[in-house]
Amino acid sequence: MTFAKRTICPPQPAVLVTGASSGIGKDCVRAFVAKGWHVFPVVRRPADVDSLHALCPSAACLTPLLGSVTDEASMEEVVKKLTQCLAQGAAQGGAALRLQAVVASAGMGAFAPLELSSLELWREVFEVNVFAVASMSRLLLPLLRDAATSPGPAPRIIVVGSAAGRLPGPMQSTYCASKHAVEGLVDCMRMELRPHGVKVVLLQPGLVATALPARVEAATEQQLRVVAPKLRAVYQNQMEEMQAALRTMMTKSIHVEV
Ligand SMILES: NC(=O)c1ccc[n+]([C@@H]2O[C@H](COP(=O)([O-])OP(=O)(O)OC[C@H]3O[C@@H](n4cnc5c(N)ncnc54)[C@H](OP(=O)(O)O)[C@@H]3O)[C@@H](O)[C@H]2O)c1
Repeated sequence: MTFAKRTICPPQPAVLVTGASSGIGKDCVRAFVAKGWHVFPVVRRPADVDSLHALCPSAACLTPLLGSVTDEASMEEVVKKLTQCLAQGAAQGGAALRLQAVVASAGMGAFAPLELSSLELWREVFEVNVFAVASMSRLLLPLLRDAATSPGPAPRIIVVGSAAGRLPGPMQSTYCASKHAVEGLVDCMRMELRPHGVKVVLLQPGLVATALPARVEAATEQQLRVVAPKLRAVYQNQMEEMQAALRTMMTKSIHVEV
């Protein structure tokens, strides 16, 4: 008796990346696509979808999802679509997909002394850098736990924190506090999720040449516009010194490829 040879293909690894419109998140999309993963980038604007397709023209490796990490309802929609795509991959007899990683790269910075940082700014920075990481992880855990029960490497949540989560600096209280908070969040999640087979990784990069510094400067300008000139003058020299120091440090920053 002879048996026909049947090749069983392992599932294609899949990753969801937030903050995929630019910088580190977009570069992660490029890097995962290059490694043959199926990538689910999350972006806020339809225009960003086109620039992602330029990284991978084939639908076989990229399924952009529209949503904002700070809007829980839209993230629920994102997870619903992701769940459908993971199920369809297997059901259509195409390459089965296994959610192997989630990269939380969406983040924002702010640069202003505490006295000039409104509570609104504090809330905005924590919404994006901390609460969105917790909320997104909660929503994705059922899928990651499922993946942990199938053969393959342990699925993982990779959070892009910052060296600022360890090294505080003046004019950065909102950003540093948020990145310190993320460190605490990730340490707790790592212990809590180990028994479920889900790993949690924190990246704490130093300066990377992305759109972030320019965005921070623009946000700072907007923030300072509402501050009384007299109060602004109190911190003017300190802010200029720090900004100059940051610009010098940026000349030594590492680069992303996209
Ligand atoms: N660049 C650095 O030197 C550096 C160093 C250490 C750590 N990091 C961290 O690395 C991560 C990525 O930063 P990056 O340097 O790649 O900056 P970036 O190029 O400015 O990218 C930031 C990403 O976050 C998204 N984002 C920002 N605010 C958002 C909001 N309110 N809601 C949803 N998405 C939002 C942006 O989406 P939109 O385009 O839709 O705004 C964008 O995709 C951040 O967590 C940052 O703190 C950066």
